[in-house]
Amino acid sequence: MSAIRSAYTDKLAFFGNSSPQQLLAVYGSPLYVYNENILRRSCRELQLLSAHPGFWVNYSAKANANPSLLRIIREEGCLVDAMSPGELHMNLEAGFSREQILYVCNNVSEAELQNAAEHGLLVSVDSLAQLDLYGRVNRGGNVMLRFNPGIGAGHHQKVVTAGEATKFGIAPEDLDKARALLAAHGLTLAGLNQHIGSLFMEPDGYLDAMDRLLAFAAALRPEELARLEILDFGGGFGIPYHKYGNAARLDMDALGRGIHERISAFAARTGYAGRFYVEPGRYVVAECGLLLGTVHAVKDHAGRRYVGTDLGFNTLMRPVLYNAHHDIEIYRAEDAAESGSLPQTVVGNICESGDILAEDCVLPEIAIGDILGVLDAGAYGFAMCSNYNLRLRPAEVLIMADGSHRLIRRRDNLDDLVRNVRV
Ligand SMILES: Cc1ncc(COP(=O)(O)O)c(C=O)c1O
Repeated sequence: MSAIRSAYTDKLAFFGNSSPQQLLAVYGSPLYVYNENILRRSCRELQLLSAHPGFWVNYSAKANANPSLLRIIREEGCLVDAMSPGELHMNLEAGFSREQILYVCNNVSEAELQNAAEHGLLVSVDSLAQLDLYGRVNRGGNVMLRFNPGIGAGHHQKVVTAGEATKFGIAPEDLDKARALLAAHGLTLAGLNQHIGSLFMEPDGYLDAMDRLLAFAAALRPEELARLEILDFGGGFGIPYHKYGNAARLDMDALGRGIHERISAFAARTGYAGRFYVEPGRYVVAECGLLLGTVHAVKDHAGRRYVGTDLGFNTLMRPVLYNAHHDIEIYRAEDAAESGSLPQTVVGNICESGDILAEDCVLPEIAIGDILGVLDAGAYGFAMCSNYNLRLRPAEVLIMADGSHRLIRRRDNLDDLVRNVRV
């Protein structure tokens, strides 16, 4: 086997005791591959953001809810959120207790709120209407309110979740209306949360938004502050997707210092003894996962070199949905010399012109039969997979700490496609 472009995964020993070829031979193509050591490392790095006794990492399961990965994240001492009955189900499957699960939802039904209440979860609601609805299904219970701190951040307008142009959160000026609803339903305000957006590479926006939530909490009535159990600042921590471009990482030391100073000062100033949450999804799982696929065709058309693969956007939506970049590695079965680089457009097997994984990307020349590795696909990768064109979702494999590999989700099969069909 020769690796045409694999310096990054080689350095990390990403594939453990196996090679991409061997993994595809066993599990088929396309295939999601996760590395346990890298996942644990990300969890530990986040845990070190602050030594404050009330500091917790609350993993956002929407990024990747494979129960085997969730179990590792739990073992590393992280808590978890859920924003749907499905995520709740997976978290419980992975062994999280109800006390360890925060239900952060928006625009959900009475039945769903009832389900969360019956599971004994602390629920965060993000509008006065949802607060009123929750009050009716859980009279006298605890509730958390998601506020919009007025500051948004993120790599794409579609993932900015605070500030002006977003559906999320209660406006701080609606606090009195919220208080009236809390009183009307005998609810206790047990927490405040926010989430400003996804994939920021500078800590400032997040720290500014933290200041706003802490100032808001400090301005609550003493009896309200005394009953608060959780202050959740949300997630959004970015990772550099241009690994071969040596893109800079988010300064986790600066972020950690900023978080630690703020929560320590707040606790000292107010006597608050509850929990402080950060709620990363991407940062926990993105770099521990990659997507392997196979090249089935190469062609030149209208001056463009197309590389046709089995990596349709049903297997990875981010490039199509957000114009997101993922670096690509190239592995070749037989020993072959690399034959120069050129701009290539890597496309999938979905019947859509927009099915493009990487556009005019300068890479070593790719050949039919090559295996491609799409880096940093652990977050919002499999989680957003679909059966569009009735294509089957890939299998998921874990490279374990000892370098061996284990199937953690089998590939869809045709029976899965018809399981719910009534003819
Ligand atoms: C409420 C909430 N918390 C946390 C996250 C995790 O964000 P990220 O994966 O960018 O860290 C999200 C993502 O959308 C979210 O909506």
